[in-house]
Amino acid sequence: SPKACVIGNPISHSLSPKLHGYWLKRYGLPGEYTALQVTEGDLEETLRMLPSQGFVGVNVTLPHKVEVLQYADQITDRATLIGAANTLTFKEDGRIFADNTDGYGFISNLRQGAPDWDPKSGPAVIFGAGGAARAVIVALADAGVPEIILTNRTRAKAEALRADFGARIRVVDWVQAGSVLEDANVVINTTSLGMKGAAEFKVSLDALRPETVVTDIVYNPLRTPFLKAAEKVGCTTVDGLGMLLHQGVPGFERWFGKRPEVDEETRQAVL
Ligand code: ATR
Repeated sequence: SPKACVIGNPISHSLSPKLHGYWLKRYGLPGEYTALQVTEGDLEETLRMLPSQGFVGVNVTLPHKVEVLQYADQITDRATLIGAANTLTFKEDGRIFADNTDGYGFISNLRQGAPDWDPKSGPAVIFGAGGAARAVIVALADAGVPEIILTNRTRAKAEALRADFGARIRVVDWVQAGSVLEDANVVINTTSLGMKGAAEFKVSLDALRPETVVTDIVYNPLRTPFLKAAEKVGCTTVDGLGMLLHQGVPGFERWFGKRPEVDEETRQAVL
């Protein structure tokens, strides 16, 4: 029966084994999904070895998402654009097909959590300019968002993303972010701020309008201080757990042959 796993370092915190294990059980499918700790030095050898051990694919998490691209034989457009891959499928001859489903997971979660959100009807404001922001930008641009306002503590990193992704992006200073919130149709935190053990999110969200949809990619805790502040204003909020669940859908379908559902039961299974 087909085997898949998630590779990263560290890996013990990954929710992917619970997620895929739950789906396998729910649909009564034969298969196995495990977690494998892989150091940077062992990455290539591991990828060459897994197909011969019965693995049909892997999810890739930190710190390997960028590096795996150099071992791929075929790369999807969205993985090329994002500059990273999180889903690898092994062909029968061991060739590696690399995809990135993080942007897909982000937008699917947002659409499910805020079904009335119309991407074309106004700008998005993104906090942060790291790897997660790249996937979010690609997904929002693809959905037809007219303008993406990007703000990051280190402004140069936001400028670099604008150079990569083009004119639809406007960069504003981190300290001025509050002033662009009232124009926003959707606001996204892609920084690690608010995560358990990380620093607090201190930018004031007072300028938000209640019509604005607010989402966070942090899911531990589920209701981050960022989402709580938005709830106070009356905004529709979407937590980050669904992004993780939805990003797993394309890989599961490719490896195990069934497109899995993401619903309340799925959420409960990984919590
Ligand atoms: P990821 O790939 O998950 O996006 P990353 O590339 O390390 O992770 O990016 C983390 C993001 O959180 C960055 O935008 C970072 O801002 P800087 O580019 O200025 O480092 C942001 N971040 C982390 N800690 C922060 C803090 N204390 N205040 C503001 N932003 C912070």
